[in-house]
Amino acid sequence: MNRFLAKAAVAAAAFCLMITAPAMAAAQDKLGGTLEIFSWWAGDEGPALEAMIKLYNKQHPGVSVENAAVTGGSGINARAVLKTRMLGGNPPDSFQVHAGQELIGTWVASGRMEDLTFLYKQQGWMEAFPADLIKLIGTENGIWSVPVTVHRSNVMWFVPANLKKWGIQAPADWNEFLEIAPRLQEQGVVPLALATNWTANHLWESVALASMGADRWDALWRGEIPWTDPEVVKAWELFGKVLQYTNDDATSLSWQQATDMVVDGRAAFNVMGDWAAGYMNTTLGMAPGKDFGWSASPGTGGVFMFLSDSFGLPVGAANRDNSLAWLALVGSRSGSDAFNPLKGSISPRLDTDLNLYNDYSKSAAGDWGRDRIVGSLAHGVTANEGFMSDFASVMEMYLKNRNAGQAAMACHAIAVKNGIARR
Ligand code: GAL
Repeated sequence: MNRFLAKAAVAAAAFCLMITAPAMAAAQDKLGGTLEIFSWWAGDEGPALEAMIKLYNKQHPGVSVENAAVTGGSGINARAVLKTRMLGGNPPDSFQVHAGQELIGTWVASGRMEDLTFLYKQQGWMEAFPADLIKLIGTENGIWSVPVTVHRSNVMWFVPANLKKWGIQAPADWNEFLEIAPRLQEQGVVPLALATNWTANHLWESVALASMGADRWDALWRGEIPWTDPEVVKAWELFGKVLQYTNDDATSLSWQQATDMVVDGRAAFNVMGDWAAGYMNTTLGMAPGKDFGWSASPGTGGVFMFLSDSFGLPVGAANRDNSLAWLALVGSRSGSDAFNPLKGSISPRLDTDLNLYNDYSKSAAGDWGRDRIVGSLAHGVTANEGFMSDFASVMEMYLKNRNAGQAAMACHAIAVKNGIARR
């Protein structure tokens, strides 16, 4: 399926709409009051969200938007704040949530989201988004959020000129990485930059995917193979070997600081989602393919481990109409194409204008159309909040004792507890 080719005529018509729609909307708009948007896109991660809020302001000049972003990569702080607010009956008007189990197994399962099927029909979104993605944010009772990004998790980043200087190439698999890593250390270079603990979960999923392969990865989440399977233990063992070549101060760094290590030549590689491309391009002004390079994380070529950010409408939102107007923008082509080129992600829409995107994103769009697609654990596709926070504790234990067998057993226990595996 080629998800990104739009016919030229359609593109031209939509472009005209992009210019005229906000102006028309502003003239007729009756909305007023406030709108609170909750996310973790603050600071360096903020420009894409700010661009979309700017569009909203143009369309709805009477509404005052409160950007309630809480800093912290992968929502490490925001998701805790959100939980308190949701349980306390004080939801934001709309909040960022990962498509998949983070949405369905957490907020939909507890009856806290509004069904948005009517909006999908009204906006023509049943045809605008890939059917598989709609499935991921839907249940038999409804469709529960509006996707704004498609991000790739399994990417390795580097600076081509530095690799040349050190006489190495991006490793095709982890064995190759383990061979070149000591050579980098001899030259005083950290082979793989790592940051605070959630980035260990992020690295783990790429290593595990390479180690066990896409079929087993999927089977694991369907509960078809146990977490104590020897192949899962092997993945933890490989992860331990890779960790030996990361920086000692990882826990005190943000993901951006780990990227900085690669950018300024203290480290050779970093495995991070393609928001790192957004950071390097939009914030640091680096040119993709020239100032920074990328490859699929070792051993995962041909597989696209994806995640999708979306926005939903919580039950009891104080400014429901303003929120629906926000969601209409989030799902629109103009909203999506204002947001994603700055973010490093690609648009989930089938009719996106790829001309607006840089070379990294164009290549990601090609892979998204071609590769085998699997879901990310670290970013909410495969597991609910319960499993994710239990997994974070398993990771903390593993980072201390590096015991692969024990980590696999602990994962089995939390998979049973959270309804992923059978006893
Ligand atoms: C992910 C999110 C991305 C990006 C990243 C780093 O969970 O889906 O959009 O924000 O965290 O914070």
